[in-house]
Amino acid sequence: MGEFRAVTTDETVSGHPSSAYRRVRSMLAEGRCVVLDGGVATEVDQIAATGGALSDDPLWGTAALLHQPDAVQAVHRRYAAIGCDVISTNTWGLTGAQEVEREPISPTAPPTHWMDVARRGIRTAREAIELEGRTDDVALAFSINGDVDSEQRMETLRLLGRVFEEDPPDLILLETATLIREELTFPTVESLLAAGLPLWLSFRRCRHGVCGVYGQHWGGPEGDVFGRAARRFEDLGVGALLLNCLPPDHITGMLPWLRDFTDLPLGVYPNLGYFTDDGWSFDRSVGPREYAELAASWRDEGAQIIGGCCGVRPEHIAAAGERVAETVPGGGRSSTGPGIGRRKRTALAPATTAEPEPAPWIDAHGRRLFPLTFPEIVCEPGVFVPTQGSFLVWKHLFANRIGAGARCVDIGCGTGLLSVQLALNGAEHVHAIDLERRAVDNTLANAFRNGVAERVTGATVDLYPWVPQEAYDLVVASLYQMPVDPFEQPSSHRPLDFWGRNLVDHLIALLPRLLRRGGVAYVMQLSLLGQQHTQSLLEGHGFSADVVDFSFFAFSLAFEQRAEQIRRVEELSDAYHLTFGEDDVMVAYCSRSAIVRMPPEKRAASHDQADRDHRPDRGRRAAGGHPVRGPPAGRGRALHATRRAGGRRRFRVGVDRVGRLPACGRDRRRLPSGQAGRRRPGLDPGDVRRPGR
Ligand SMILES: C[S@@+](CC[C@H](N)C(=O)[O-])C[C@H]1O[C@@H](n2cnc3c(N)ncnc32)[C@H](O)[C@@H]1O
Repeated sequence: MGEFRAVTTDETVSGHPSSAYRRVRSMLAEGRCVVLDGGVATEVDQIAATGGALSDDPLWGTAALLHQPDAVQAVHRRYAAIGCDVISTNTWGLTGAQEVEREPISPTAPPTHWMDVARRGIRTAREAIELEGRTDDVALAFSINGDVDSEQRMETLRLLGRVFEEDPPDLILLETATLIREELTFPTVESLLAAGLPLWLSFRRCRHGVCGVYGQHWGGPEGDVFGRAARRFEDLGVGALLLNCLPPDHITGMLPWLRDFTDLPLGVYPNLGYFTDDGWSFDRSVGPREYAELAASWRDEGAQIIGGCCGVRPEHIAAAGERVAETVPGGGRSSTGPGIGRRKRTALAPATTAEPEPAPWIDAHGRRLFPLTFPEIVCEPGVFVPTQGSFLVWKHLFANRIGAGARCVDIGCGTGLLSVQLALNGAEHVHAIDLERRAVDNTLANAFRNGVAERVTGATVDLYPWVPQEAYDLVVASLYQMPVDPFEQPSSHRPLDFWGRNLVDHLIALLPRLLRRGGVAYVMQLSLLGQQHTQSLLEGHGFSADVVDFSFFAFSLAFEQRAEQIRRVEELSDAYHLTFGEDDVMVAYCSRSAIVRMPPEKRAASHDQADRDHRPDRGRRAAGGHPVRGPPAGRGRALHATRRAGGRRRFRVGVDRVGRLPACGRDRRRLPSGQAGRRRPGLDPGDVRRPGR
């Protein structure tokens, strides 16, 4: 095989077309349906002693020619016996020729040459036709995987010509092709045509493009590339164009579309079922009768050749052949637009224009979940960009429409994501506060963007010295929580915070003043902060607390950089995070707190104390009246109460002299060696106590 030489199917080269193929051609000319066989490899797998052994390797059952040639021949005979006009060799996987060469039949067997497998494939099928007495009636198609994706595969196909010179099939069936690869597809077709045998091409394609066994569409949108390729195949001298190896409901609409590009005979032979780790899973819902009806519908759409691919059994083919015997192919050309026909919709088949809009995913309140009804949030430079913690609280507010009719405060509002959602949920008023003026401005702008500006106010406020002017129905807070080594250089306004919980603790101390009776606070807490301390603070103030939702929050760079301090805090408290391989993940909790008991005298005392703690003169102020950044001068009473118990600056540790930590509701992990021993002047681990202990 040297020069390419295009040979049309009308030419006769060394006795070709054969009489069996000429019969096929006249059937097509007369409008009669040419019936192909069904699955061969899957059928061999059913009847052979080693049934179920079909594996998803590139050979796809071709090795049965070596291991179970009798079973292969029995399958061919059945198809010939039930009246097929074309049967195909069990050689589809031969493009994996290298593997045939590599894998011996048995350790003692001589090496196998793939061309010998090809020869045996032809001989086995030819004998089956003869044994059924249909020598001139059944055309023998040499089946070969048409997904030519490498030079090597193209070379294998070229070399096949040498096999065909000695014992030619009646036609070549290059099947299961996928993408149109300009550099490979057309040269391959040309080289096969040069063998002088009729060539049929079959693609696994539906109206959405390349389509797999499971109905998965794995090619991208291509416009009419395949249609134009069909035209070129016809010009090159290909004998027929078919579709195979895809679920039957993906066939519909394809033939009329192809007919717009080519006058080639068109055919279909889909799968029934799909491959699983347990072997081929046959589609029991499509029996012979149903398959016959499908065949009739393909005929209506212009199919001139009908058969079956993997999972289609002789009984299906027999029924289909009988059903279409007296029919003529339908007009074919698409007249009512793409995707027409009686296509059975599957979960994998997107809608077409002719069909009603699929139902949207919505929540119980009729809000769209896809795309998510998310407020329009612009993140202005320098303002905290929402993270998984923010989204957790947002999701709870959104899903439960929290805030309707309430007066709310959003503490540490950032972009205003939570404020805006509360207002969208119907809050009467939302007051958004943040230490950063830019954040407050950003929140108000986002409120405007979402049409709720008239119900959102904002103020630049430092939580520590803040004196709330009113009590609220609802408090939401998603605040910084980052354990920081006190010896780290301050790099921002954030105070160095050993436990990472200063802001949360201060907020809890403010809650009795911030919440009206019956009010609720939603606070995001990371698992890097101990739960026990939070709970004891809340209980101390007469609050109940429960978790309304939680999610997972991968360590960002800032957390990774504090990994050592985080380990220290986790060792010293019930704080924790999860580790997956190299990745650290914390759990973010959305807690809900409500007042359960608050004796009036305690509430009054708490308010008095809060007033004292937050007197403006206790907060240091810089020129211009803005709070000074850095550790605040005055903190909540409860916080002081716990810390003072061990001395304001002098911390005491819950570690005994031999380095054991007392049990505290869960197994305490020891610091890995080398970390436990880390000591700094003035911060001996033995001088640190867990908060609240
Ligand atoms: C973790 S961000 C959360 C922002 C927003 N709530 C969200 O969920 O996306 C914490 C916010 O609290 C603000 N913040 C930090 N310290 C504060 C303080 N002492 N007083 C008031 N706000 C503070 C920060 O500026 C930041 O915008």
